[in-house]
Amino acid sequence: MLVSAKEMLTKAKAGKYAVGQFNINNLEWTKAILLTAQENNSPVILGVSEGAGKYMCGYNTVTGMVKGMLDTLGITVPVALHLDHGSYEGALKAMEDGFSSVMFDGSHYSIEENIEKTKEIIRIAGEKGVSVEAEVGAIGGEEDGVIGGGEVADPDECKMIADLGVTMLAAGIGNIHGVYPANWTGLNFEVLAKIQEKTGVMPLVLHGGTGIPEEMVKKAISLGVSKVNVNTECQLSFAAATRQYIEAGKDQQGKGFDPRKLLAPGFEAIKATVKEKMELFGSVGKA
Ligand code: 13P
Repeated sequence: MLVSAKEMLTKAKAGKYAVGQFNINNLEWTKAILLTAQENNSPVILGVSEGAGKYMCGYNTVTGMVKGMLDTLGITVPVALHLDHGSYEGALKAMEDGFSSVMFDGSHYSIEENIEKTKEIIRIAGEKGVSVEAEVGAIGGEEDGVIGGGEVADPDECKMIADLGVTMLAAGIGNIHGVYPANWTGLNFEVLAKIQEKTGVMPLVLHGGTGIPEEMVKKAISLGVSKVNVNTECQLSFAAATRQYIEAGKDQQGKGFDPRKLLAPGFEAIKATVKEKMELFGSVGKA
């Protein structure tokens, strides 16, 4: 059964660890992440961007696939199916199609408009028991073709959005999606501490989990981050393992071209990456 992210994140905040959100793209990704969560007795959040949702033939298809796997694979750890960086319309559609958690990313609107739209999403989500993530201060980097510069959120604006009753809050603290450039100056812990001071028990979300040095991730968790999003890192490890298989000519040996064989090394690579992150975030054994 899918669950909202509320309980797992409340526990994570209290226990000073974080739950990983791993973005999914297809069946292999989903199966790899779910099995790893189960093997490590860890709660998990499956992230679906609007682009990935379209790619997988709609939110209804994704919900069907995930629910089917929970049943067939015997997954008993808490699993939330979460819309990542949703538009207002996208969040409504994902809820209609059975997602248990949605992000409404109104960070590109004025704070007033972000507040109005977030309120409406919270109202509808509340009726369905769906958790809501909001965002203040656009998170930079490239995601689904949208490029932002890595803003730092205003702690007072964070408090305004937190007070609306969101489940978790993403705040830009110099983090960006994708691989970090060589001249990246790191996370802004001063601002993170201020945000946590103003928002209290609100679980904070760290986007752009790929490539942040381990010590910085740990420090962010100690300062109130309870959810870390990872996407690119699984893509990179999948691609590297697949490349190795092809370059070794394995697809040309026997039935090595069978997609179930061809995609197996990438599948195992995703599992290894997810396990490593769960260990780093401290969510192992916390299901
Ligand atoms: P990365 O792709 O940098 O890991 O970021 C993932 C993310 O924040 C999804 O919202």
